[in-house]
Amino acid sequence: MYRVLITGINGYISQYLYLTRPNHLEIEGASRQIDPAFIEYINPQIKLHTLSLEDDIQLQLKNIKTDFIIHTAAMANLSECQKNPEQARQINVKATKSIAKWCAQTGTRMIYLSTDIVFDGEHAPYSEDIIPKPVNVYGKTKLQGEQAVQNSMGNFAIIRIALTLGRAKFNRINFIDWVMVKIKKGEEIPLFTDEYRTASAVKHLAQNIWTIALSDETGVFHQFGASRLSRYDIGNLICKELNSGMDLIRPVKAADMQDCPRPLDVSLTTHRTVDGKKLILPGIDEVIKEVVQ
Ligand SMILES: NC(=O)c1ccc[n+]([C@@H]2O[C@H](COP(=O)([O-])OP(=O)(O)OC[C@H]3O[C@@H](n4cnc5c(N)ncnc54)[C@H](OP(=O)(O)O)[C@@H]3O)[C@@H](O)[C@H]2O)c1
Repeated sequence: MYRVLITGINGYISQYLYLTRPNHLEIEGASRQIDPAFIEYINPQIKLHTLSLEDDIQLQLKNIKTDFIIHTAAMANLSECQKNPEQARQINVKATKSIAKWCAQTGTRMIYLSTDIVFDGEHAPYSEDIIPKPVNVYGKTKLQGEQAVQNSMGNFAIIRIALTLGRAKFNRINFIDWVMVKIKKGEEIPLFTDEYRTASAVKHLAQNIWTIALSDETGVFHQFGASRLSRYDIGNLICKELNSGMDLIRPVKAADMQDCPRPLDVSLTTHRTVDGKKLILPGIDEVIKEVVQ
Protein backbone atom coordinates (compact mmCIF):
# COMPACT_ATOMS: atom_id res chain seq x y z
CA MET A 1 0.00 0.00 0.00
CA TYR A 2 1.24 3.52 -0.90
CA ARG A 3 1.74 5.82 2.07
CA VAL A 4 1.21 9.57 1.92
CA LEU A 5 1.83 12.25 4.52
CA ILE A 6 -0.27 15.42 4.26
CA THR A 7 1.15 18.43 6.12
CA GLY A 8 -1.38 20.93 7.51
CA ILE A 9 -3.90 18.05 7.61
CA ASN A 10 -6.50 20.21 9.38
CA GLY A 11 -6.24 23.03 6.78
CA TYR A 12 -8.96 23.87 4.27
CA ILE A 13 -7.64 22.13 1.15
CA SER A 14 -6.33 19.16 3.19
CA GLN A 15 -9.83 18.54 4.52
CA TYR A 16 -10.94 17.96 0.92
CA LEU A 17 -7.80 15.94 0.09
CA TYR A 18 -8.84 13.66 2.93
CA LEU A 19 -12.47 13.49 1.73
CA THR A 20 -11.45 12.63 -1.87
CA ARG A 21 -8.58 10.27 -0.95
CA PRO A 22 -8.13 7.25 -3.21
CA ASN A 23 -8.90 3.97 -1.41
CA HIS A 24 -5.56 2.35 -2.01
CA LEU A 25 -3.60 4.93 -0.03
CA GLU A 26 -2.59 4.88 3.60
CA ILE A 27 -2.95 8.49 4.74
CA GLU A 28 -1.01 10.04 7.60
CA GLY A 29 -1.39 13.64 8.66
CA ALA A 30 0.87 16.23 10.21
CA SER A 31 -0.31 19.24 12.14
CA ARG A 32 1.25 21.66 14.59
CA GLN A 33 -1.47 20.86 17.11
CA ILE A 34 -3.36 17.64 17.34
CA ASP A 35 -6.84 18.88 18.09
CA PRO A 36 -9.01 16.10 19.64
CA ALA A 37 -12.14 17.48 17.92
CA PHE A 38 -10.35 17.22 14.59
CA ILE A 39 -9.29 13.63 15.28
CA GLU A 40 -12.91 12.81 16.06
CA TYR A 41 -14.06 14.56 12.88
CA ILE A 42 -11.49 13.13 10.48
CA ASN A 43 -11.13 9.55 11.61
CA PRO A 44 -9.85 8.29 14.94
CA GLN A 45 -7.81 5.67 13.05
CA ILE A 46 -5.65 8.01 10.97
CA LYS A 47 -2.07 8.33 12.18
CA LEU A 48 -1.27 11.93 13.11
CA HIS A 49 2.16 13.47 13.70
CA THR A 50 3.01 16.78 15.32
CA LEU A 51 4.91 19.04 12.90
CA SER A 52 5.64 22.67 13.65
CA LEU A 53 7.13 24.54 10.71
CA GLU A 54 8.87 26.86 13.16
CA ASP A 55 10.88 24.08 14.84
CA ASP A 56 13.55 21.64 13.63
CA ILE A 57 11.86 19.87 10.70
CA GLN A 58 14.44 17.12 10.15
CA LEU A 59 14.18 16.12 13.80
CA GLN A 60 10.39 16.01 13.70
CA LEU A 61 10.33 13.93 10.50
CA LYS A 62 13.07 11.56 11.72
CA ASN A 63 10.89 8.52 12.39
CA ILE A 64 8.39 9.04 9.55
CA LYS A 65 8.42 6.82 6.47
CA THR A 66 6.22 7.69 3.52
CA ASP A 67 6.16 7.34 -0.26
CA PHE A 68 5.14 10.91 -0.89
CA ILE A 69 4.34 14.13 0.93
CA ILE A 70 1.67 16.64 -0.01
CA HIS A 71 2.97 19.82 1.62
CA THR A 72 -0.07 22.06 2.09
CA ALA A 73 0.93 23.72 5.39
CA ALA A 74 1.78 27.38 4.95
CA MET A 75 1.24 30.88 6.22
CA ALA A 76 -1.43 31.53 3.60
CA ASN A 77 -3.02 34.81 4.67
CA LEU A 78 -1.74 37.73 2.53
CA SER A 79 -2.20 40.36 5.21
CA GLU A 80 -0.55 38.27 7.94
CA CYS A 81 2.46 37.58 5.70
CA GLN A 82 2.82 41.28 4.90
CA LYS A 83 2.71 42.16 8.62
CA ASN A 84 5.11 39.37 9.68
CA PRO A 85 7.58 38.83 6.83
CA GLU A 86 10.16 37.01 8.99
CA GLN A 87 7.60 34.48 10.17
CA ALA A 88 6.35 34.06 6.57
CA ARG A 89 9.94 33.35 5.43
CA GLN A 90 10.40 30.80 8.20
CA ILE A 91 7.14 28.96 7.46
CA ASN A 92 6.89 29.28 3.68
CA VAL A 93 10.57 29.18 2.69
CA LYS A 94 12.87 27.71 5.34
CA ALA A 95 10.49 24.96 6.45
CA THR A 96 9.72 24.04 2.82
CA LYS A 97 13.46 23.85 2.13
CA SER A 98 13.97 21.49 5.09
CA ILE A 99 11.08 19.27 4.00
CA ALA A 100 12.47 19.20 0.45
CA LYS A 101 15.93 18.22 1.77
CA TRP A 102 14.38 15.45 3.86
CA CYS A 103 12.48 14.22 0.77
CA ALA A 104 15.69 14.21 -1.28
CA GLN A 105 17.55 12.26 1.42
CA THR A 106 14.78 9.68 1.87
CA GLY A 107 13.73 9.32 -1.81
CA THR A 108 10.26 10.69 -1.08
CA ARG A 109 8.21 12.36 -3.83
CA MET A 110 7.19 15.90 -2.88
CA ILE A 111 4.01 17.67 -3.92
CA TYR A 112 4.12 21.36 -3.02
CA LEU A 113 1.00 23.53 -3.14
CA SER A 114 1.81 26.99 -4.44
CA THR A 115 -0.33 29.88 -5.65
CA ASP A 116 -1.37 32.12 -8.54
CA ILE A 117 -0.17 35.02 -6.33
CA VAL A 118 3.43 34.32 -7.48
CA PHE A 119 2.50 36.39 -10.59
CA ASP A 120 2.44 40.20 -10.86
CA GLY A 121 -1.10 40.41 -12.26
CA GLU A 122 -0.12 42.50 -15.30
CA HIS A 123 0.24 39.84 -18.01
CA ALA A 124 -2.56 37.31 -17.53
CA PRO A 125 -3.29 34.59 -18.41
CA TYR A 126 -0.19 32.92 -16.96
CA SER A 127 1.02 29.52 -18.14
CA GLU A 128 3.70 27.45 -16.39
CA ASP A 129 6.52 28.84 -18.53
CA ILE A 130 5.97 32.52 -17.60
CA ILE A 131 8.56 33.71 -15.06
CA PRO A 132 6.80 34.68 -11.80
CA LYS A 133 7.24 38.16 -10.35
CA PRO A 134 5.40 38.39 -7.03
CA VAL A 135 4.33 41.76 -5.63
CA ASN A 136 3.77 40.89 -1.97
CA VAL A 137 5.40 38.90 0.85
CA TYR A 138 3.05 35.92 0.51
CA GLY A 139 3.79 35.57 -3.23
CA LYS A 140 7.54 36.09 -2.73
CA THR A 141 7.81 33.49 0.04
CA LYS A 142 5.70 30.92 -1.84
CA LEU A 143 7.92 31.41 -4.92
CA GLN A 144 11.06 30.96 -2.80
CA GLY A 145 9.42 27.79 -1.43
CA GLU A 146 9.01 26.57 -5.04
CA GLN A 147 12.68 27.33 -5.77
CA ALA A 148 13.77 25.42 -2.66
CA VAL A 149 11.83 22.37 -3.89
CA GLN A 150 13.20 22.64 -7.46
CA ASN A 151 16.79 23.01 -6.23
CA SER A 152 16.60 20.04 -3.85
CA MET A 153 15.40 17.13 -5.95
CA GLY A 154 13.95 15.85 -9.22
CA ASN A 155 10.88 13.94 -8.06
CA PHE A 156 8.53 16.82 -7.27
CA ALA A 157 5.35 18.44 -8.51
CA ILE A 158 4.67 22.10 -7.74
CA ILE A 159 0.95 22.79 -8.11
CA ARG A 160 0.10 26.49 -8.41
CA ILE A 161 -3.54 26.81 -7.52
CA ALA A 162 -5.97 29.62 -8.14
CA LEU A 163 -8.47 30.92 -5.57
CA THR A 164 -10.26 27.86 -4.24
CA LEU A 165 -13.91 27.90 -3.24
CA GLY A 166 -16.35 25.66 -1.38
CA ARG A 167 -17.73 25.35 2.15
CA ALA A 168 -15.03 24.57 4.74
CA LYS A 169 -15.69 21.31 6.56
CA PHE A 170 -13.99 21.86 9.88
CA ASN A 171 -12.95 24.95 11.79
CA ARG A 172 -12.10 27.12 8.75
CA ILE A 173 -13.89 29.94 6.94
CA ASN A 174 -13.70 30.02 3.15
CA PHE A 175 -14.74 33.04 1.06
CA ILE A 176 -18.07 31.30 0.39
CA ASP A 177 -18.72 30.80 4.13
CA TRP A 178 -17.78 34.45 4.77
CA VAL A 179 -20.24 35.75 2.16
CA MET A 180 -22.98 33.43 3.48
CA VAL A 181 -22.48 34.60 7.10
CA LYS A 182 -22.68 38.23 5.93
CA ILE A 183 -25.94 37.53 4.08
CA LYS A 184 -27.40 35.82 7.16
CA LYS A 185 -26.46 38.77 9.39
CA GLY A 186 -27.65 41.30 6.80
CA GLU A 187 -24.21 42.95 6.76
CA GLU A 188 -22.63 44.83 3.87
CA ILE A 189 -20.33 42.65 1.68
CA PRO A 190 -17.40 44.66 0.20
CA LEU A 191 -16.04 42.83 -2.87
CA PHE A 192 -13.26 43.68 -5.34
CA THR A 193 -14.46 44.51 -8.84
CA ASP A 194 -10.95 44.73 -10.31
CA GLU A 195 -9.14 41.64 -8.95
CA TYR A 196 -9.57 38.69 -11.32
CA ARG A 197 -8.93 35.02 -10.58
CA THR A 198 -9.68 31.74 -12.33
CA ALA A 199 -11.21 30.21 -9.20
CA SER A 200 -11.98 26.51 -8.89
CA ALA A 201 -14.16 24.35 -6.66
CA VAL A 202 -12.16 22.78 -3.84
CA LYS A 203 -13.53 19.23 -4.27
CA HIS A 204 -12.61 19.14 -7.97
CA LEU A 205 -9.21 20.68 -7.22
CA ALA A 206 -8.50 18.03 -4.56
CA GLN A 207 -9.26 15.25 -7.06
CA ASN A 208 -6.79 16.76 -9.55
CA ILE A 209 -4.12 17.12 -6.86
CA TRP A 210 -4.41 13.35 -6.28
CA THR A 211 -4.16 12.71 -10.03
CA ILE A 212 -0.95 14.75 -10.29
CA ALA A 213 0.48 13.32 -7.06
CA LEU A 214 -0.08 9.72 -8.17
CA SER A 215 1.30 10.28 -11.68
CA ASP A 216 4.98 10.07 -12.62
CA GLU A 217 4.91 13.66 -13.90
CA THR A 218 7.30 16.21 -12.44
CA GLY A 219 7.65 20.00 -12.65
CA VAL A 220 5.18 22.86 -12.34
CA PHE A 221 1.42 22.51 -12.93
CA HIS A 222 -1.34 25.13 -12.90
CA GLN A 223 -4.72 24.21 -11.45
CA PHE A 224 -7.61 26.60 -12.01
CA GLY A 225 -11.18 26.96 -13.18
CA ALA A 226 -12.16 27.80 -16.76
CA SER A 227 -13.79 31.21 -15.99
CA ARG A 228 -12.07 34.52 -15.22
CA LEU A 229 -14.16 36.27 -12.55
CA SER A 230 -13.76 39.02 -9.95
CA ARG A 231 -14.77 38.50 -6.31
CA TYR A 232 -17.64 40.89 -7.06
CA ASP A 233 -18.81 38.60 -9.90
CA ILE A 234 -18.51 35.57 -7.63
CA GLY A 235 -20.41 37.32 -4.81
CA ASN A 236 -23.24 38.07 -7.23
CA LEU A 237 -23.30 34.43 -8.37
CA ILE A 238 -23.52 33.26 -4.73
CA CYS A 239 -26.36 35.68 -3.91
CA LYS A 240 -28.24 34.73 -7.06
CA GLU A 241 -27.90 31.04 -6.26
CA LEU A 242 -29.12 31.62 -2.68
CA ASN A 243 -31.81 34.00 -3.86
CA SER A 244 -30.81 36.67 -1.33
CA GLY A 245 -28.29 39.34 -0.36
CA MET A 246 -27.87 41.08 -3.76
CA ASP A 247 -28.51 44.48 -2.14
CA LEU A 248 -25.74 43.88 0.46
CA ILE A 249 -22.87 43.70 -2.05
CA ARG A 250 -20.70 46.82 -2.21
CA PRO A 251 -18.22 47.15 -5.11
CA VAL A 252 -14.68 48.12 -3.98
CA LYS A 253 -11.28 48.42 -5.67
CA ALA A 254 -8.31 46.29 -4.59
CA ALA A 255 -6.34 49.51 -4.02
CA ASP A 256 -8.89 50.49 -1.33
CA MET A 257 -7.37 47.73 0.87
CA GLN A 258 -4.18 49.22 2.28
CA ASP A 259 -2.93 46.06 4.01
CA CYS A 260 -0.99 44.49 1.14
CA PRO A 261 -0.22 45.03 -2.57
CA ARG A 262 -2.45 42.71 -4.61
CA PRO A 263 -1.89 41.57 -8.20
CA LEU A 264 -4.98 42.50 -10.22
CA ASP A 265 -5.34 39.65 -12.69
CA VAL A 266 -3.66 36.35 -11.91
CA SER A 267 -5.80 34.22 -14.23
CA LEU A 268 -4.03 30.97 -15.02
CA THR A 269 -3.75 28.83 -18.12
CA THR A 270 -1.75 25.67 -18.77
CA HIS A 271 0.28 23.86 -21.36
CA ARG A 272 0.89 20.81 -19.13
CA THR A 273 -0.86 17.47 -19.48
CA VAL A 274 -1.09 14.53 -17.10
CA ASP A 275 -1.43 11.13 -18.78
CA GLY A 276 -2.07 12.97 -22.04
CA LYS A 277 -4.90 15.20 -20.68
CA LYS A 278 -5.06 18.86 -19.69
CA LEU A 279 -6.57 19.04 -16.20
CA ILE A 280 -8.69 22.22 -16.45
CA LEU A 281 -11.48 22.51 -13.89
CA PRO A 282 -14.96 23.91 -14.54
CA GLY A 283 -15.44 27.64 -13.87
CA ILE A 284 -17.12 28.64 -10.59
CA ASP A 285 -20.11 29.94 -12.59
CA GLU A 286 -20.66 26.37 -13.85
CA VAL A 287 -20.51 24.75 -10.38
CA ILE A 288 -21.91 27.48 -8.13
CA LYS A 289 -24.76 25.25 -6.88
CA GLU A 290 -22.23 22.70 -5.65
CA VAL A 291 -19.88 25.20 -3.95
CA VAL A 292 -22.57 26.85 -1.82
CA GLN A 293 -23.88 23.51 -0.50
N1 LIG B 1 -7.18 28.27 -0.28
C1 LIG B 1 -6.83 28.87 -1.41
O1 LIG B 1 -7.66 29.53 -2.09
C2 LIG B 1 -5.40 28.74 -1.93
C3 LIG B 1 -5.10 29.35 -3.16
C4 LIG B 1 -3.80 29.23 -3.66
C5 LIG B 1 -2.84 28.51 -2.96
N2 LIG B 1 -3.15 27.94 -1.77
C6 LIG B 1 -2.08 27.18 -1.07
O2 LIG B 1 -2.61 25.92 -0.69
C7 LIG B 1 -2.08 25.50 0.55
C8 LIG B 1 -3.21 25.17 1.53
O3 LIG B 1 -4.02 26.33 1.68
P1 LIG B 1 -5.30 26.32 2.65
O4 LIG B 1 -6.24 27.33 2.13
O5 LIG B 1 -5.75 24.93 2.88
O6 LIG B 1 -4.63 26.93 3.97
P2 LIG B 1 -5.11 26.84 5.49
O7 LIG B 1 -6.52 26.40 5.63
O8 LIG B 1 -4.70 28.14 6.11
O9 LIG B 1 -4.20 25.68 6.08
C9 LIG B 1 -2.84 25.89 6.31
C10 LIG B 1 -2.32 24.79 7.20
O10 LIG B 1 -0.97 25.14 7.52
C11 LIG B 1 -0.79 24.94 8.93
N3 LIG B 1 0.24 25.81 9.45
C12 LIG B 1 0.33 27.16 9.39
N4 LIG B 1 1.42 27.57 10.06
C13 LIG B 1 2.04 26.48 10.55
C14 LIG B 1 3.19 26.24 11.34
N5 LIG B 1 3.95 27.25 11.77
N6 LIG B 1 3.52 24.97 11.65
C15 LIG B 1 2.76 23.94 11.23
N7 LIG B 1 1.64 24.08 10.50
C16 LIG B 1 1.29 25.34 10.17
C17 LIG B 1 -2.15 25.31 9.51
O11 LIG B 1 -2.22 24.78 10.82
P3 LIG B 1 -3.23 25.40 11.93
O12 LIG B 1 -4.55 24.78 11.64
O13 LIG B 1 -2.65 24.97 13.23
O14 LIG B 1 -3.25 26.87 11.73
C18 LIG B 1 -3.08 24.63 8.52
O15 LIG B 1 -3.23 23.28 8.83
C19 LIG B 1 -1.16 26.62 1.02
O16 LIG B 1 0.16 26.24 0.74
C20 LIG B 1 -1.57 27.84 0.22
O17 LIG B 1 -0.46 28.68 -0.04
C21 LIG B 1 -4.41 28.04 -1.22
